[in-house]
Amino acid sequence: MQTSWLPFIPESASTVSGKVDALYFYLSGVTLFFSLLIGGVITFFVIKYRRRLPNEIPRPIAGSHKLEILWSVIPFIIAMSMFAWGAQIYFQNSRPPKNANEVYVVGKQWMWKIQHSTGQREINELHVPIGRKIKLIMTSEDTIHDFFIPAFRIKADVLPGKYTMQWFEATKPGTYHLFCAEYCGMNHSGMIGSIIVMQPTEFDSWLSGNVNQQSPAVAGQQLFQSLGCVSCHGANGEGGRGPTLAGLFGGKVFLNNNQTLTADESYIRESIENPAAKVVNGFNPIMPTFQGQVTPEQLIQIISYIKSLQISNPQSTTPAAPAAKAAPASQTGATPAPNKQ
Ligand code: CUA
Repeated sequence: MQTSWLPFIPESASTVSGKVDALYFYLSGVTLFFSLLIGGVITFFVIKYRRRLPNEIPRPIAGSHKLEILWSVIPFIIAMSMFAWGAQIYFQNSRPPKNANEVYVVGKQWMWKIQHSTGQREINELHVPIGRKIKLIMTSEDTIHDFFIPAFRIKADVLPGKYTMQWFEATKPGTYHLFCAEYCGMNHSGMIGSIIVMQPTEFDSWLSGNVNQQSPAVAGQQLFQSLGCVSCHGANGEGGRGPTLAGLFGGKVFLNNNQTLTADESYIRESIENPAAKVVNGFNPIMPTFQGQVTPEQLIQIISYIKSLQISNPQSTTPAAPAAKAAPASQTGATPAPNKQ
């Protein structure tokens, strides 16, 4: 594990870590400056204006508008600068770029199960290349966990029944800590792992050395068949009792209550587990619930399959382009690839 130039600060190894550190130093600097200033002024006044005679009465002091405005406006500007700076980094961190490679993360007591969109699975380890944007799509099988990579300065809760995202772009090869940062039971402190950052060529050969695993989209396609989804949601509109799913992901959905939403992971999951919650305009709420019949990992596979059904979308979200060289040429287009196992 590399050390950084300050012993109490973890290695800075992502595109945002320097920005987070700069803001943090600014906050610490402002805090330190005003603590010293106020402490110093208090000490100085305590000595200078101490009572020298037992019956001494100080002269009355009238207020000063000039001073009051000054010490209201200056702190206001400082506080707003922290807000604006922090919000800017927050927005950047909370909007994953569209062309990011997707990695699925499932937390459970007490381990991290990770799967690349090209199928490779890992446990408590995540291999990533430098210089590529990685988007983590995370969920939990049991309680709340939190996926924390200090060297990248990113951290997000991982929740049961919901998907959360975070993204990063690593800048330095090395092995970095992965922590669970939410108390999740007895072995919470052991829910740790490693992020292994490699050169892109090294990563590609690592990836191609692990190809004999089924991609989530292909597994999802099999579930789609075996659970009978296909009889209502035919990929090409056959069935007719349910809306077609081709091109659904990322597009607009019109509901029968006149609302419109964008189809994302959470919407698809809700529609599988609680189909009556949001019914597409023109269809009847006849779909049975699949709650309890599909595990969080299987849900990810089905969602991954639905994502792969994009119609001529240049930014197809399944196996991202940079990895395709080393990965099997699976499901990059509109038609799902055959089983690679
Ligand atoms: Cu998982 Cu703490």
